Amino acid sequence: MSAGTPRERIWVSRPLFPDILERLHEYFEIEVEDGDRDWTREQMAQKLGDKTGAILGVADPVDASVIAQAPLLRAVANRGVGYNNLDVAALARAGIVATNTPGVLDETTADFAWALMLATARRVTEAERFLRAGRWQGMSFHIMLGGDVYGRTLGILGMGRIGQAIARRASGFRMPVIYHNRSRVDAAIEDDCRARYVDRETLLREADFLVLTVPMTAQTRHAIGASELELMKRSAYLINIARGGVVDDEALISALRNRHIAGAGLDVFEHEPKIPADMLALDNVVLTPHIGSASLATRRAMASLAVDNLIAALGHGPNAGEPPNVVGPNVAPAR
Ligand code: DGY
Repeated sequence: MSAGTPRERIWVSRPLFPDILERLHEYFEIEVEDGDRDWTREQMAQKLGDKTGAILGVADPVDASVIAQAPLLRAVANRGVGYNNLDVAALARAGIVATNTPGVLDETTADFAWALMLATARRVTEAERFLRAGRWQGMSFHIMLGGDVYGRTLGILGMGRIGQAIARRASGFRMPVIYHNRSRVDAAIEDDCRARYVDRETLLREADFLVLTVPMTAQTRHAIGASELELMKRSAYLINIARGGVVDDEALISALRNRHIAGAGLDVFEHEPKIPADMLALDNVVLTPHIGSASLATRRAMASLAVDNLIAALGHGPNAGEPPNVVGPNVAPAR
């Protein structure tokens, strides 16, 4: 680039580790937001109107209406593995590269699924609320009786890398693992995970813990609704670390309230960050603010991968023109 040539402009929609962002400065002029906020499509269009690239959070929407107002845009890099915020078909039609951050968060997210399983069955957050409220009068044999985890059947809906990482942890708990996936995974993976493929109905009927790891798509929207919850055991727990829209929140509230299932551990919600008041009022649900991948090391790895992807997508750095993690209508999902 000759002296005086204007540098390409990049938008970073939410704060990111400054030392990692520093790498973008070598190539681009950067506008970084200093706080987290939910961007409307109109605001996205306004921000992207004069940018060639962006690093986006997984809730920042880019659809055809945004793209139409972003004539210079050539690449968007999600800092997350999910990309249901992006209309990948519209991006592909406009020749805009879209990327995500698979691989680096699998183990951390699997850890968190287990944290939710244990916390939900053993009523950890409910017990802490009870204690902090000063209601504990002394050791009692009968308080906070929960469900067992050890030896129960673990059911996984969605056997991608995160589902597999969750399954592999089950052998220490001596838990049989069953799973359902759009397509059955290789026998070698099933062996490694000690997981047995079953149809969807068997999964719902037999799981003591049903963990959701499917990506959010038109096909998975409300994959768990009233009729699915009805099939589950009354002693079962539902764990959602995928996307809120995969579960019908209203149906779940009713199932939890009527004890059709024993409990739920939810890291994601249909209308984040809004949580229905009826959900907040329930004690048999553990609620966390979309932190499945939130270990420091993993969030740094995700940020770094998003930066690598954007630099490469815009034709710079060691992988110029070949970003490692492209997503789109013709690319097999990496989740
Ligand atoms: C993801 O990676 O999609 C998580 O949901 C958020 O980072």
